[in-house]
Amino acid sequence: SRRVTVHDVTAATERGEKWPMLTAYDAMTASVFDEAGIPVMLVGDSMGNCHLGYETTVPVTMDEMTMLSAAVVRGTRRALIVADLPFGAYQEGAVQALRNATRLVKDAGVGAVKLEGGERSHEQIRLLVEAGIPVMGHIGLTPQSVNAMGYRVQGRGEEAAQQLLRDAKAVQDAGAFAVVLELVPAELAAEVTRTLHIPTVGIGAGPDTDAQVLVWTDMAGLTGGKVPRFTKQYANLRQVLGDAAKQYAEEVVGGSFPAAEHTFH
Ligand code: KIV
Ligand code: NA
Repeated sequence: SRRVTVHDVTAATERGEKWPMLTAYDAMTASVFDEAGIPVMLVGDSMGNCHLGYETTVPVTMDEMTMLSAAVVRGTRRALIVADLPFGAYQEGAVQALRNATRLVKDAGVGAVKLEGGERSHEQIRLLVEAGIPVMGHIGLTPQSVNAMGYRVQGRGEEAAQQLLRDAKAVQDAGAFAVVLELVPAELAAEVTRTLHIPTVGIGAGPDTDAQVLVWTDMAGLTGGKVPRFTKQYANLRQVLGDAAKQYAEEVVGGSFPAAEHTFH
């Protein structure tokens, strides 16, 4: 059985089928999602917040992205694996973007890369696509720009909406195979989706995009503290894991673990 390709996901969109994407940062979790039939996994730089303990995505390095992307590739057999180019890995220009994207493709084995920005990133997207690396764009809220934009809904108001549409078209014209729309009003996400022929992948962008993406630790209820309103929690892993750890600790302290069946003589 071969892996899902970018052509498979664009064909699904052309047939009118919505498709799900989840983030993954390690081989074991990725294997669970692969077996569950998730067709596309994103090794997001959200690993900064969700896996590496940083406050934002900004500090994530190419070494970290490469190592965890390789783990996700090793843990999966079927899914298309998309890796984020982290902050600082493509802002200097297209040549830098190509050098770093090549590393993710050659050393980690991913099938596509994602980078943030519309008009401002179109040269980077174009060079990668010319080199044979499929690119997913990412517009609307772009967390690598948190220091400039904060975390708020993007594209509100006529001027901002027009800019978002220009960004979406720039990403498509540069040759991207899909584009993430993060934290934009549903009506605007629907308009972008009608305007583009490539798939739109929404997060906090309402129900009318061609695909959806969620951060896995948010959707599985592992993330501590407040999660964004656009996330739905499909499980409460934080509770389940915490309870398991507490029970294990109690049984060690109380002497009931290990029992006879866990013991060799
Ligand atoms: O890093 C990430 O998880 C992302 C998604 C939220 C789209 O970029
Ligand atoms: Na990201």
